[in-house]
Amino acid sequence: MNEQPLSMQAFKEAAACIKQQTPHSPTVALVLGSGMGPLAEEIGEPTYVPYADIPHFTRSTVPGHAGRMVIGLLQGQTVLAMQGRTHFYEGHSMQAITMPIRVLRLLGIKTLVVTNAAGGLNPAFHVGDLMLITDHINFTGMAGYNPLRGPNFDEFGPRFPSMVTPYDLELQQVARRAAQQAEISLQEGVYVSLSGPTFETPAEIRFLRAIGGDAVGMSTAPEVVVARHSGMRVLGISGITNIAITDPTSGGQTTHEEVLAAGRTISSKLIAVVKGVLAGRAIVG
Ligand code: HPA
Repeated sequence: MNEQPLSMQAFKEAAACIKQQTPHSPTVALVLGSGMGPLAEEIGEPTYVPYADIPHFTRSTVPGHAGRMVIGLLQGQTVLAMQGRTHFYEGHSMQAITMPIRVLRLLGIKTLVVTNAAGGLNPAFHVGDLMLITDHINFTGMAGYNPLRGPNFDEFGPRFPSMVTPYDLELQQVARRAAQQAEISLQEGVYVSLSGPTFETPAEIRFLRAIGGDAVGMSTAPEVVVARHSGMRVLGISGITNIAITDPTSGGQTTHEEVLAAGRTISSKLIAVVKGVLAGRAIVG
């Protein structure tokens, strides 16, 4: 694993490269998880910046993750969508997978909307549900792989950042209202971030439920930690692509194909909610 700490110079070079390629100055960024990519197709006057063209960026090797930025206009806001993200399980360091978030901060992004595909732990959840993330358990971080481990970048934020409100309370309210107006039911809960790439065993599912998890996935919390460190406001939405299996005799298996297929159905709901959120002024401040 590449544990070489990234330098401020690297973040600045990446930001300068992106800035050079677009006339837009986005203030809101969207990270689009597995199957959520179609949201970026709604963006008007788009500039496309492939991650491969950005210095110091790592590329995703996962099917379903396009690997580019789409910068343009959505619901009267100037937005930057990251179509695809890199994951810890691909072998990159925590610093490398969260590097784009720091670059977004240097580009002037103040609000981050993170989305992901997740497995439902809460027995009340169904495949196809959207879940507003109200809090997270950064399991990999708690096990020592916190993205802020290493020298602190004082320019971004403090050595010991608070995580009392990882997900902005006002933006949660805006999302609830947007879902209501679009007549989309929105579940709510705690997202547990694991490293993957294995899906969970039945015993692990029981454990994650017992510690208060409602949904489980392989991303998001590290990005949110880095975003909060630099003072961004964060809104998080999970798409429930599968329900965690606790009965080994059921014959069921969780697969990436299942995750991608459900993600495609979920993305239309996600588009409606995110558009509603962007239409409100609260997102910008
Ligand atoms: N577990 C972990 N990550 C996931 C899942 C899951 O069940 N579904 C989508 N991402």
